[in-house]
Amino acid sequence: MNERDSEAVAAQLAAKGYALAASEATADVVLLNTCSVRDAAEQKALGKMRALAGDVRRSRRGVVLGFLGCMAQSRGQELIDELPDVDLVLGTQKLHRTAEYLDDILAGRRDKVVEVGEEPGSEAAVKEHLLAGSGVRRSATAFVSIMQGCNQHCTFCIVPYTRGVERSRPIPDIVAECRELVVRGVKEVTLLGQIVTSYGKREIPSRDGKSAFVQLLEAVHGIEGLERIRFTAPHPKGYGDDLVEAYARLAKLCEHAHLPVQSGSDRVLKLMHRGYICNRFREIICKLRQVRPGIGITTDIIVGFPGETEADFAETMGLMREIEFDQAYIFKYSPRRNTPAATMPDPVSVEVREERNGRLLAVVNEIGRRKYERYVGRCVQILVEGPSRKNPARLEGRTRTNKIVVFQGSDRHIGQLPELRITGTGSFTLYGDPVVQNPA
Ligand code: 5AD
Repeated sequence: MNERDSEAVAAQLAAKGYALAASEATADVVLLNTCSVRDAAEQKALGKMRALAGDVRRSRRGVVLGFLGCMAQSRGQELIDELPDVDLVLGTQKLHRTAEYLDDILAGRRDKVVEVGEEPGSEAAVKEHLLAGSGVRRSATAFVSIMQGCNQHCTFCIVPYTRGVERSRPIPDIVAECRELVVRGVKEVTLLGQIVTSYGKREIPSRDGKSAFVQLLEAVHGIEGLERIRFTAPHPKGYGDDLVEAYARLAKLCEHAHLPVQSGSDRVLKLMHRGYICNRFREIICKLRQVRPGIGITTDIIVGFPGETEADFAETMGLMREIEFDQAYIFKYSPRRNTPAATMPDPVSVEVREERNGRLLAVVNEIGRRKYERYVGRCVQILVEGPSRKNPARLEGRTRTNKIVVFQGSDRHIGQLPELRITGTGSFTLYGDPVVQNPA
């Protein structure tokens, strides 16, 4: 989501005549888009800005430095008090005004700008995309923001305080954006929101038993030339049978579900205010596997939530083994300001969080390795995205189940959907060779 916001800001600036600099060392404006989900992300952004204030400012005094996004939203003026070199602090509902505020600063009309207010309609403002060739890696796939904010108030999560309440964009606007992307060569869209299963809940009534989100999926599915649809992230609470059934019906919907479970203990889920029990989660996975056998299932887990006992953690380990996730992203609980969990009793020590993280990771890696090995010898379709992140001399793409495949190819493959035979595996990576079609 942050990547998407950064791209929209870059596209907005490009449209206003700014050009992307090759590096921060030559840039006239350096903006850091920030994440607040865990403390480590905030510390990283603060450290980076300190370094910029030292290096860049020392050599070129006129450079504009700014913080955007979640940390800007939650800390506001505090950031300038702490780092006086910062000129601009823009919250999550002001990103579409970046060019305006930069112009004010560059023209000397304003010295410092701190804007972190709410802005009605800002959910519809994240819609510009960078054109291929202007520094973007991927041109065949695109992220599309369908909503902003979150109303769930999980007790560990800072998002409701940084991104505000849920606001959804209308279906026709989203479809128009996707259509435009397809005209520009995009083959796959990923619909983005904090909880996409809450999309349009207040604005768009259910129709024929179909939720607003499923209506959106159907509308996007109708776009000619679009090959693949993904979305992230759904929430188990709102995962209705209409969505499971959409997987059975909509062929472009890729067989991958990222469904954050957070814990395998019902007691911890309750403390987290997640709104479901583990059996509900199991039921959804079971239904998805029925309609799409082989579907890739990934999740997020938090270890060391306040009050998590060894028995609770054992339940999470058990769920990992039982579900056999294709991948699970494990996070050590990080207390966030103003969240209820930050002041809950029985915090888990840093050492125990670390230790549980290690044990769970070992299980996730072991299961992942086995699952990936099962692909060897099979043929899969991938959408080729561009040079491999691990080895730029090779290309990479994703299977419909969202596994990265690295292969030897040429530029003509980019944006294509070739069949590959899988020949080997690495850590959460597949290696393959294009299948040569026999001439008829
Ligand atoms: N500490 C650790 N992990 C967190 N996440 C959200 N808030 C916290 C926190 N305070 C994790 C959740 C979420 C993912 C994006 O980040 O697992 O699904």
